[in-house]
Amino acid sequence: MNPTPRPLGTSPVAVGPLGLGCWPLAGMTRVGVSREAAEATVRAAVEAGITHLDTAYCYGERGESERAIRAALAAVGPSARDGVVIAGKCGIHWQPDATRDPPRRQVVDGRPERIRAEVEESLARLGTDRLDLLYLHAPDPVLPIEESAGALHRLLEAGKARAIGLSNASCEQLARFAAVCPLAACQMHFNMLQREIEREVLPWCRDHAVAMLVYWPLMKGLLAGGMTRDLVFPTSDSRHKYPMFQGEEFARNLDFVDALRPIAARLGVALTDLVLAWTAEQPGITSVLFGATSPAQMAENARALACELDDEARAAIVAAITARGQVASRRAV
Ligand SMILES: NC(=O)c1ccc[n+]([C@@H]2O[C@H](COP(=O)([O-])OP(=O)(O)OC[C@H]3O[C@@H](n4cnc5c(N)ncnc54)[C@H](OP(=O)(O)O)[C@@H]3O)[C@@H](O)[C@H]2O)c1
Repeated sequence: MNPTPRPLGTSPVAVGPLGLGCWPLAGMTRVGVSREAAEATVRAAVEAGITHLDTAYCYGERGESERAIRAALAAVGPSARDGVVIAGKCGIHWQPDATRDPPRRQVVDGRPERIRAEVEESLARLGTDRLDLLYLHAPDPVLPIEESAGALHRLLEAGKARAIGLSNASCEQLARFAAVCPLAACQMHFNMLQREIEREVLPWCRDHAVAMLVYWPLMKGLLAGGMTRDLVFPTSDSRHKYPMFQGEEFARNLDFVDALRPIAARLGVALTDLVLAWTAEQPGITSVLFGATSPAQMAENARALACELDDEARAAIVAAITARGQVASRRAV
């Protein structure tokens, strides 16, 4: 994998080909990730040279992910903050809701006053004075996107963010946002089986020099190869609601994973390394954001930096993808 840092649009910020996604560390997907494990995972990332840390205001009900980053960087040393790119997101928060299990619901709120307040709180939780990259997490469905974009532009001008991004957006929303605020990056889901962005959003970003950072490269853990056919997620693990883990879809996805295993074995690499290396080399992909919940997972995934695919592996992967066909997908934040 080419480790050279890639610029985020025309901003002064650059990132490597892999970044640590800090959502699972908040303990909302995989319940029971301890604070110690979260901090140790971030620390292992930085020490392995994965210095792009992707988080959000809503990763955890009380900013658990942002707090883990702060603690991990403090443990690495006083200059650690300057050696990493912290990407945050605003515009989504949690509200208590007793009718649900777990008793909370996600609210998309991109009003300028809400954005300003969330960013101040994120900075305080992270113990820093600026985010290197700040995304609007998702367009607010009841607000013109220009209003949110204006708020982010003011934060850029005030030095609270060094680059601005937009996540979970259509081409029209990206264009309207970019007309108001310099847009450096876009974040969308993308993996071997969920490649919808290749149709419109990825070409738009390439045409407009906007970096593309992708989430769910491991399909929320499915492509890491450790899931068994009898797996049942507890309802407290938010993955139970996704079609990719249910019934026939799940069985066919696990068949796909089994088709990848001999390809990884021939190259002598872990399955996650094969998957991350393939994702990172797809045209137009700037950086791949993978989640991990332990230093051991982190160490395995960091080895993808040294993973080189050959043409035989690429052809076998394409054949396996074609045999599987496209999976049922849904957008989630
Ligand atoms: N912009 C958005 O709206 C948005 C939405 C979703 C995600 N994201 C970002 O993208 C990042 C990546 O997404 P994601 O974390 O949901 O999905 P992912 O990277 O596809 O999968 C992460 C999961 O894979 C499993 N895993 C990772 N490495 C492994 C290994 N070596 N061996 C076995 N299992 C392994 C872990 O599952 P276990 O928990 O079971 O250990 C981990 O939680 C997030 O962390 C977040 O920063 C952004």
